[in-house]
Amino acid sequence: MFSRSKNPAPLPPGPKGIPIVGNILDMPSEREWITFADWGAQYGGISSVTLMGQTMIIVNSTEVMEELDKKGSLYSDRPRLEMGGELVGYSKTLVLVPYGNRFRNYRRHVSKLIGSNNAMAQFMPMEELETHKFLKRVLADPNPDELSQHLRKTSGSIIMKLIYGIEVQEKRDPFVELIEHANDNFSLATKPGAFLVDVFPSLRYIPPGFPGGGFHALAAKWAKAFNDMVEVPYSYAKEMIANGTAPVSFVSTSLEDEAKLTPEEIFEIKHTAASVYGAGADTTVSDQYAFFLAMIRHPEVLKKAQAEIDSVVGNDRLPSFSDRENLPYVNAVVTEALRWNSVAPTGVPHRAMDDGVIAGYFIPKGSIIITNLWYMLNDPSIYPDPFKFDPERHISTSDKPAQRDPRTICFGFGRRICPGLHLAEASLWILIAMSLAVFDIKPAFDEEGKLIIPEHELTGGTISHPKPFKCSIKPRSEKAVSLISAELSR
Ligand code: HEM
Repeated sequence: MFSRSKNPAPLPPGPKGIPIVGNILDMPSEREWITFADWGAQYGGISSVTLMGQTMIIVNSTEVMEELDKKGSLYSDRPRLEMGGELVGYSKTLVLVPYGNRFRNYRRHVSKLIGSNNAMAQFMPMEELETHKFLKRVLADPNPDELSQHLRKTSGSIIMKLIYGIEVQEKRDPFVELIEHANDNFSLATKPGAFLVDVFPSLRYIPPGFPGGGFHALAAKWAKAFNDMVEVPYSYAKEMIANGTAPVSFVSTSLEDEAKLTPEEIFEIKHTAASVYGAGADTTVSDQYAFFLAMIRHPEVLKKAQAEIDSVVGNDRLPSFSDRENLPYVNAVVTEALRWNSVAPTGVPHRAMDDGVIAGYFIPKGSIIITNLWYMLNDPSIYPDPFKFDPERHISTSDKPAQRDPRTICFGFGRRICPGLHLAEASLWILIAMSLAVFDIKPAFDEEGKLIIPEHELTGGTISHPKPFKCSIKPRSEKAVSLISAELSR
């Protein structure tokens, strides 16, 4: 478009750095969203650093993110990540695939499957059934150390059914174990600054046995896990199709005319499937887990939401998606969970495909763009008292408008905006509504009989979770027990 020498705009401001390596020493190794927010306070909504000649743009402002969103076609590529992308293999999945034809085909597949509430409608009964199983799991084993496992199992089951038509086993399911394993690896492999080979791509040519080549062994191990995640459930779904036992799923529908598909089309179906299951299983779980934490910290919210359910749904049945529009406070709890807990605190990095100007600053081609979603979701000028879990902020009244809808932030921007947002919201909603209907969620007691009120702290990595916490989850009444124990009639 234009070259830097002709461009009148300066680079966004930022910490000064030192010759050659630039700002490498300024880069945080953990909780990077806090350091990035400090830069925002010091330099404004858009700042920049240079890492070995690579420009990195840090965005702390929703206005700047909106401008990037409007110019989406220029800012929707992904950086090439040597470790997670190339060596492990995640550049074959939607989340890291370069902008281009394959990217567009992946997105088309996902959008057809779950890209609107209409498309999602066919999966609502399945979501309700799977979430009911979650209630049964918690009733059978309310140990708080198992809560996150129960959530993962539920989320894994929903995605496995939707994508492959696979019914997961109640105890250790081999497919769910594959997802979890590969997801953990993704988070570790793509953590900014974790691998020197991402900063110096030529390091990938160091042979494995040589000093500095240790990452190869890890990459090979993770690549095997990645490959299993792509191939194993896909082959199983194909076996079911061949036996005539396959339920309707993304894979079964996509392979209806398999004989007519090209190898590239088959590759795309297989990797779209793995992308959805990789990106969707772990993310929603983070907000669902955070919801339980929020209820311990804010019993007044729990009470108010339960009162709404009791009056609208009653106690003779569980809430269903058909109640959604009649439960404004529960809806606000869901929206607040999306704001309060940052699943992807620094989003997923984008890459500028050409020179451009944003907010009056020069953004050179190839710049990596990091959006500090955590800060935007906790910006006190948008969300006063941001660390408080307060659903009221999403409800407008005659004397105050609702605060900014966090869904315009937490799912990212441009052509890379999260394609699973309708599924994410639906899964979060039904789990919150059903759990509120039947469980009391309270703090646990320590050995001295004092209540434990856990802090909300996030783990590191691209996908973040609340750190584990103790709580007490008990059925609200005998009636609640019978609703959980009965079969769900839908
Ligand atoms: C609360 C739950 C979720 C949150 C907060 C979330 C957030 C995000 C964010 C911030 C991004 C990066 C957007 C960007 O690059 O600007 C993203 C990408 C993505 N999400 Fe989600 N997500 C959630 C759930 C899901 C679910 C359930 C699915 C599964 C269907 C999913 C599938 C994806 C995929 C495939 C991408 C990559 C898109 C691309 O690179 O084009 N996400 N998500």
